[in-house]
Amino acid sequence: MRTDADIRRDIDDEDRPAATGLSRRSFLQGSALVTAGATVLGAAAVIVERAQAEAVSGPPVMGPGMVPIALEINGVTRALQVEPRTTLAEALRGPLNLTGTKIACNRGACSACTVWLDGATVSSCMLLAIDVGARSVTTIEGLAKDGQLHPVQAAFIEHDAVQCGFCTPGMVMSCAALLERLPHPSAADVRAAISGHLCRCGTYPHVIAATLAAAAPRKA
Ligand code: FES
Ligand code: FES
Repeated sequence: MRTDADIRRDIDDEDRPAATGLSRRSFLQGSALVTAGATVLGAAAVIVERAQAEAVSGPPVMGPGMVPIALEINGVTRALQVEPRTTLAEALRGPLNLTGTKIACNRGACSACTVWLDGATVSSCMLLAIDVGARSVTTIEGLAKDGQLHPVQAAFIEHDAVQCGFCTPGMVMSCAALLERLPHPSAADVRAAISGHLCRCGTYPHVIAATLAAAAPRKA
């Protein structure tokens, strides 16, 4: 049977330097570190191998230089070159010269940059131009047809729903999209449709009145 003295001697032995200058404890600690290091290096090698394999077999790498893309904007296919980091809003206002779309917060918080993507509203500052693909983009410039303003645009003018105008294109795109999917909305529907839009000029009551007025002729 092991006595307390035996156990104490074992513990002392753990810390006593051997002929090599290493105690048993420090030798075991060093071995554990070497093993852990080898494991980390092994995992890193696997990650590098995987990345190399994906680089060979994965989709082509785009950028960092200019990338040629084609966008269908307001029914017309436009070819342009953009950096991969370019947002749709930047592409519209820059190379495409469609400055009706505004950039205010540039981080998806105000909806000033709202356009339609296949008929659904999106914040164009939150979408990369290279990710649009074959989907059709409609901007504020594409709403008027044959020289006639869209009913929502005309109603905004009629109901004085524009002050500085910075939020207005985005507001119009959301209100027009609402009428596309809900021809006779209630005031609550309009409020919900513009709930993500920030208007520092406080045009909300006028925007709601204009949208309800734009919907009215459709009831006949
Ligand atoms: S500019 Fe895009 S959400 Fe504000
Ligand atoms: S009209 Fe000025 S921010 Fe809305």
